[in-house]
Amino acid sequence: PLVSMRELLDHAAENGYGIPAFNVNNLEQVQAVMEAAKEAGAPVILQASAGARKYAGEPFIKHLIQAAIEAYPEIPLVMHQDHGQSPDVCAGAIKLGFSSVMMDGSLEADGKTIASYDYNVDVTRKVVEMSHALGVTVEGELGCLGSLETMKGDKEDGHGTDSTMTREQLLTDPEQAADFVKRTQLDALAIAIGTSHGAYKFSRKPTGDILAIERIREIHRRIPSTHLVMHGSSSVPQDLLAVINQYGGKIKETYGVPVEEIQEAIKFGVRKINIDTDIRLAMTAAVRKFLAENPDKFDAREWLKPAREAAKKICKQRYIEFGCEGQA
Ligand code: G3H
Ligand code: 13P
Ligand code: NA
Ligand code: ZN
Repeated sequence: PLVSMRELLDHAAENGYGIPAFNVNNLEQVQAVMEAAKEAGAPVILQASAGARKYAGEPFIKHLIQAAIEAYPEIPLVMHQDHGQSPDVCAGAIKLGFSSVMMDGSLEADGKTIASYDYNVDVTRKVVEMSHALGVTVEGELGCLGSLETMKGDKEDGHGTDSTMTREQLLTDPEQAADFVKRTQLDALAIAIGTSHGAYKFSRKPTGDILAIERIREIHRRIPSTHLVMHGSSSVPQDLLAVINQYGGKIKETYGVPVEEIQEAIKFGVRKINIDTDIRLAMTAAVRKFLAENPDKFDAREWLKPAREAAKKICKQRYIEFGCEGQA
């Protein structure tokens, strides 16, 4: 059934695990996540970005998720709006039936300009007021996602900033986080610790200077009852990059967030872990390999099947690694 995000994250906190939140855009991705969750006995957070709503169209996003609920009635599922850019976008998502929304007020509504703290407090509080009245959970974001190697924001997926930033802006401040939670009353807080969206996060396997897992512990100590959220949490598996490049792809050397670092973060209060890129890589690797090995095939179902299977495999692996097994 459709459940509230708050309920799922509270359970995760009580039992010390984290829930991957997977971005979905189409039928095969929704099916992959649901099948993975079924096999792992895990709860589900399906999230749709503005880009997903644009790609599939709002009725399709809505009904794909409704279909997941109908096909898997025993699995608790959250329908979450990822990176809402304004209170209006969040209101639209709630109207569509989402049980959880993210108001990303770290950037202004243009999705590019770094917002002032007061702006962020203002829009997030507005969304909390409107959402809580309807039983909808709210995620906010404080700090700017971006690289501590290049000191730049992540613009790769089109809704970040690429301006040069200070270490201060790229790392969420624990004291400010406490004030933010107090003033907005949100349920979950996305924090900046050096991760960024997309495949190009780190030029080497990250160490503490460029991936600030310790910072999470400090934030959690100040706001222990706020669920923390990690964006840009794909691990960018090297074996998937190798398959893509073996079959005609051209992806440069790059590194993601190691699973063991996420497991550490879960110990420090991270409850929701956003993953999109790993699914993209898994599906692309599977399609490239299948079509290279079967140049005579042209039935879309034939190449979508291995893509869906590859997506399921990585989702199930993350459910198990983050401690979700049997928690649904
Ligand atoms: O937040 C970023 C997610 O990876 C969604 O990406 O905006 O391309 O759908 P998208
Ligand atoms: P990745 O690009 O690391 O998968 O992050 C996705 C995300 O944070 C969606 O909000
Ligand atoms: Na971004
Ligand atoms: Zn994100």
